[in-house]
Amino acid sequence: MVLRVERRTHVFPDLTAASNALARQLMARATEAVRVRGRFSMVISGGRTPVGLYERLGGAGGRRFPWKATELFFADERCVPPDHPDSNFGAAWRTFLSGVPIPRAQIHRMRGELGPASLAARRYARWVGQLPGRGRSTTPRFDVVLLGIGPDGHTASLFPGSPAIRELRRAVVAVARSGLPPFVGRLTLTPPALSSAREVDFLVAGDDKAAAIAGIFRSGATGDPRFPASLVRPPGPTHWFLDRKAAQGLPSSSGRAPRSRSNSS
Ligand code: 6PG
Repeated sequence: MVLRVERRTHVFPDLTAASNALARQLMARATEAVRVRGRFSMVISGGRTPVGLYERLGGAGGRRFPWKATELFFADERCVPPDHPDSNFGAAWRTFLSGVPIPRAQIHRMRGELGPASLAARRYARWVGQLPGRGRSTTPRFDVVLLGIGPDGHTASLFPGSPAIRELRRAVVAVARSGLPPFVGRLTLTPPALSSAREVDFLVAGDDKAAAIAGIFRSGATGDPRFPASLVRPPGPTHWFLDRKAAQGLPSSSGRAPRSRSNSS
């Protein structure tokens, strides 16, 4: 079997422009999914980078978003209660979820407060396992997975050196030690679960991410465990919405923005 990975880069002058473009793409994907399949499933991430995107989706820019037909999942969660300042669900709730007309039962948060974390992971795996369209596979089939990366190349809570990056079967696992602050246990979707999506979109900004972006783009079709984000390899292309600073280590990244191109390996 020939492994291929296609990365489509979209480079913008700043994070605001990248977030606006991604918001438009999400709106189009959601509208199309609802037209074709009647539902839209989306996985969201934590971190600071997507805050502007979420504000846009929760504000006037997301007024026509099909929230009532959307099932929302989380890529990862910190092992804290939902009202804790470090909770990914809590941050998303405060930023936009509390203000959009998505039925509460369609927001599927990871139970970070539940112990042991392995139990919370199994419970979440059952939730995502109920998504339609996965056939005989143990992994779900999300319409869109939205991810960020850390300066160390991690994505979701898949940190370099963690056993979670080698998981091939389970959709959700507990991570005892986080590679970056906050240093609390985590729950995370695994590479096969993230890779099962119809579309994976990364939103990345800032100088401190440039080396990791360059490493990921050098990693080839099999991915490089030193940069766990490169292990997310859906059958279709991954979309990289980058600001100019994050893209500075890519070949010929000094051109005018916005700029889109595709690279396969
Ligand atoms: C988390 C995330 C994580 C995040 C990156 C980027 O729970 O922290 O889901 O993978 O996307 O760490 O975070 P920033 O956007 O804050 O740089």
